[in-house]
Amino acid sequence: MENYRLVPLISSEELVKCVDDLALRINRDYEGKSLIVVGILKGSFIFLADLVRKLAPALTLDFVRLASYGDQSETSGIVRMTKDLEVSVHGRHVLVVEDIVDTGITLKWFLDHLQHLEPESVKVCALIDKSERRRVNLSLDYVGISLEKGFLVGYGLDYSERHRNLPAIYEVLFD
Ligand code: IMP
Ligand code: MG
Repeated sequence: MENYRLVPLISSEELVKCVDDLALRINRDYEGKSLIVVGILKGSFIFLADLVRKLAPALTLDFVRLASYGDQSETSGIVRMTKDLEVSVHGRHVLVVEDIVDTGITLKWFLDHLQHLEPESVKVCALIDKSERRRVNLSLDYVGISLEKGFLVGYGLDYSERHRNLPAIYEVLFD
């Protein structure tokens, strides 16, 4: 593995504030409704755990595991689902929770998959929207932090399965 350094980018305090703001907006939009929250594993697990504890609507939680072949820092464009939904989303309001949207290929693939299951509505909440490498057209309903580029770790995000447990977000700088 190449040598690299981690540079602090988003502090735990900023993350708390960011999740609070997202939850406020989601709570307003779903008032009086119940929803199914779908976390995309593995990266969203910490963000999702913090977010759902601030959500007011009645909700059911489910997870999918999506992976794309490729090297450590860029998607190959081929998406595999290694764990599918376990609850029915037919006729339900679905909120998809993703850690970071980069090319958008992973999320687009899952949104297309969801459409076949005929939910009542689908919205997306992404902690980070990283725009520079976007390759597909996507509308993200709730975005915590918008960035152009950078490879980030911590708060669920990994570099080659490392650093997911860091409580804040760091940028990986390769030497
Ligand atoms: P996309 O299909 O290119 O949008 O990539 C989406 C997935 O790649 C995300 O769900 C992450 O798991 C991973 N990913 C993209 N950018 C980063 C990053 O900066 N750090 C860690 N993982 C990332
Ligand atoms: Mg992910």
